[in-house]
Amino acid sequence: MTYNTHAHITSWAVAIILFVVAATILNKAGKEKSQKIVKMILRLFYLFILATGLLLLFGGVEIDGEYIGKAILGVLTIGFMEMILARSSKQKSTGLFWGLFIVVLILTIGLGMKLPLGIWRF
Ligand code: HEM
Repeated sequence: MTYNTHAHITSWAVAIILFVVAATILNKAGKEKSQKIVKMILRLFYLFILATGLLLLFGGVEIDGEYIGKAILGVLTIGFMEMILARSSKQKSTGLFWGLFIVVLILTIGLGMKLPLGIWRF
């Protein structure tokens, strides 16, 4: 189990770094080609997040409301990352979505850490 949470944590940590690089530095610098490549790698990492998350979910825990909430929050986090990327490449405002992204990210990490598997337990 701990093995899987490590893979899960690595996946979303890398994804968040790639997302921030694509949405801020590369977007501001207008480096479209580099941004496209980073976005492609980022999407691969979404799959890793989903796969490791689903493995944790169906790995023998009793799936209750908190676990369902964790999965929904995780998917929402990915959704807001995609919204920000899509809107910033169309030069649309992203402020609201950055706010929503940060809120759901904090909730996802908080709930993940509260749930019993893995390396963090409070
Ligand atoms: C960017 C998105 C996500 C972030 C930031 C995130 C974050 C986390 C964190 C911090 C943990 C706790 C790890 C530990 O205690 O060692 C965790 C565990 C977990 N995550 Fe995610 N996650 C994301 C996406 C997902 C998705 C999409 C799913 C399901 C499809 C999912 C399902 C789970 C499950 C089942 C656990 C185990 C909870 C436990 O019992 O401790 N996560 N996640």
